[in-house]
Amino acid sequence: MKAIIPVAGLGTRMLPATKAIPKEMFPIIDKPIIQYVVEEAINSGFEEIILVTHASKNSIENHFDKSFELEATLENRLKRSSLKELKNIADLDVKISSIRQGEALGLGHAVACAEKSINDEYFAVILPDRIMSMHPLRKNKNLKKMRNLYKNKGYQSILIEGIKPNLISSYGAIKFDKSFDPKKAINRINGIVEKPQKNKAPSFFAVVGRYILSPEIFKYIPKVTKSSSKEIELTDAIHSMILSGQDVHSVKLEGKCFDCGSLEGYFEAILEFGLRHKSLSKPIRKMINNV
Ligand code: G1P
Repeated sequence: MKAIIPVAGLGTRMLPATKAIPKEMFPIIDKPIIQYVVEEAINSGFEEIILVTHASKNSIENHFDKSFELEATLENRLKRSSLKELKNIADLDVKISSIRQGEALGLGHAVACAEKSINDEYFAVILPDRIMSMHPLRKNKNLKKMRNLYKNKGYQSILIEGIKPNLISSYGAIKFDKSFDPKKAINRINGIVEKPQKNKAPSFFAVVGRYILSPEIFKYIPKVTKSSSKEIELTDAIHSMILSGQDVHSVKLEGKCFDCGSLEGYFEAILEFGLRHKSLSKPIRKMINNV
């Protein structure tokens, strides 16, 4: 099963840091964000990753490529553990390919750019802004669960989380049907609205950035009317697909997912990963106490 990771976004929420460096390459402790996301896909059972990328983002592809010079230098300097880390990245158990998104026309357009690589199979869309908490009990379960839901029941699904009402205008908001039971982990959904105002939101359950979709979606993306920011929203294509009778289910997020596309979420991720790091945890706690 393939996973599309759209990485062509301009990262305007994180300027000026993103002026010359892709946001996906920002480090969380010792690994770039994109590596956590790729590892999540691998641990959830995906065998092929399609990066939808942009000319200015070559560093992402380079990160997963072999680096002969660096490997030779580390070998000569007997830096065995760094060398091992480096080799592990290039030897990840997954095929990574990339496709260019020539124009910044939004998430729906980015997904449509990968259509030819998807053939007629169900696939995942993984947004690289969002990374999962490393808590040992919660690690990598959400996407795996969604993948299994497709395997066992044929479900298309969207990962969601309940959020504070004043944050809903930054996310896709889920509309449920009458059968909705907030205690259930899986519910059928009736629609999605992209970034609604608080008083117009159908619920305060937000789209987290993990989707399992059928190739049917490719019929709906070209019909989407561009948003006020001239983007083709994936949300709008999913909404039309639901309205024309296709079933889509929500899966409630277990654990925590950081929004690294925002300064606050990025910092929170660094803090949590640092506090769970075997050699950094103690010094960080000390530093915090001394601030
Ligand atoms: C995208 C989606 C939105 C979703 C969000 C999750 O928005 O369009 O529905 O809730 O990711 O992070 P973006 O953050 O790209 O504006």
